[in-house]
Amino acid sequence: MNTGHVELARAQQERWETAYARQPQLHGAEPSAAAHWAAETFGAAGIDDVLELGAGHGRDALFLARQGFSVHATDFSETALDQLRQQAQREGLDDRVTAALHDVRDPLPPADATVNAVFANLLLNMAFTPEELRGLVGEIHRVLRPGGLFVYAVWSADDPCAANWQELGGGLSVHDGFAGRFFDRARLDELTKGWQAIDTTPYAEGPKPHRMWRVTVAKR
Ligand SMILES: C[S@@+](CC[C@H](N)C(=O)[O-])C[C@H]1O[C@@H](n2cnc3c(N)ncnc32)[C@H](O)[C@@H]1O
Repeated sequence: MNTGHVELARAQQERWETAYARQPQLHGAEPSAAAHWAAETFGAAGIDDVLELGAGHGRDALFLARQGFSVHATDFSETALDQLRQQAQREGLDDRVTAALHDVRDPLPPADATVNAVFANLLLNMAFTPEELRGLVGEIHRVLRPGGLFVYAVWSADDPCAANWQELGGGLSVHDGFAGRFFDRARLDELTKGWQAIDTTPYAEGPKPHRMWRVTVAKR
């Protein structure tokens, strides 16, 4: 990671902290469309525990817990995780949801082949270099057991909002201090080459709405 990127990474963590402190429940209480899909897909596979990465204040972690899953949620914003823990307590879900601070640029804590399912809504489109993204997907592959499932959603390059973002180089763009990446199909396919492809679906979500991709893959 070069110095410029270290700076960008630090600035992003601060940007998210500030955003969650200024606006608690920033992403709203409604679960994402990808979380609904994940609940269906994991449930059909007989899975009842999920590792969620980039969980924010936990709208999806709490939804999954309400559906009966045990969820371990991580994010690099302690402010967001505090909001998640408080809401879990209010709803009496704290026995089913745990939350831990973790920057996904660092190795994932679980041991090899011990995790049944990983879920990440709008995390992989954050400010990662291509090497960091490959490293993260490699770590997810390492911790999943064979046959384990990975469901994630990212912004699509077709999203009209992409035009309002300023290019930073290296495929990253910035808007209002948030940096991220918009994905086309080829980049998605490359990211999980070697995994068993189960489903890749374009969709739109939100009031604007944003165009996104939802991807489901399994570890062979
Ligand atoms: C667009 S938000 C999505 C939050 C949540 N998944 C949701 O859909 O409500 C992206 C989240 O990724 C987190 N994030 C960004 N970079 C991260 C990193 N390097 N490690 C861990 N979390 C990160 C941010 O703090 C933020 O909570």
